[in-house]
Amino acid sequence: DGPTVLEQIQRARVVPVVVVDDANEGLGVAASLRDGGLPVAEVTFRTAGAAAAIEAIARELPDVLVGAGTVVTPAQVDEAVEAGARFLVSPGLSAPVVRRAQEIGVPILPGVATPSDIIAALDLGLSAVKLFPANVVGGPGAVTAFSAPFPGLRFVPTGGVSAANLLDYLALPAVLAAGGSWMVDRALVRAGDWAEITRRTREAVELAATLTT
Ligand code: 3PG
Repeated sequence: DGPTVLEQIQRARVVPVVVVDDANEGLGVAASLRDGGLPVAEVTFRTAGAAAAIEAIARELPDVLVGAGTVVTPAQVDEAVEAGARFLVSPGLSAPVVRRAQEIGVPILPGVATPSDIIAALDLGLSAVKLFPANVVGGPGAVTAFSAPFPGLRFVPTGGVSAANLLDYLALPAVLAAGGSWMVDRALVRAGDWAEITRRTREAVELAATLTT
């Protein structure tokens, strides 16, 4: 058996949050992320083309760990997994969404923003959650504060993460990985500026490597 999906995310240390209109944009972004050394893409269910993009990435770029983001209904869990998503991310915590993901055996990182959310996540048997919006709930200090009563829980802070503060999050032991859209800015995708996406990705990978080696 190879590493689990959560282990792969932990190794990657960064989860790029991707918004694309169609399969072609999805393939361009996923290939650019891979070329930058980060073969991971969370394709958000915010566009009509999200499932098609996941499907294309899963088919054409099997070396990229593709997941679905902004999954907020149990039906979207099924849609995402049928398209080929290997992990799921949600901005908040919905027990029906988490239970559906668990039923079909796909890891899910639901969003938490309060200790009550965390208690609900632990109740559902989760060992890792997304912290969202990380910058609004207090940044790296919030991770530290939330960790104190919940030792062992791992966080994927997302929201307002950039090259400027990435290491502040990744340096914290409770942080599994950090998520964000800064490498795959919508304007870059629309312009097809794959070189800049790859450059930002490589920068993030190199930053993360300063901590892990
Ligand atoms: C998300 O859904 O996780 C956020 O849109 C990502 O936040 P960011 O755009 O501030 O990186």
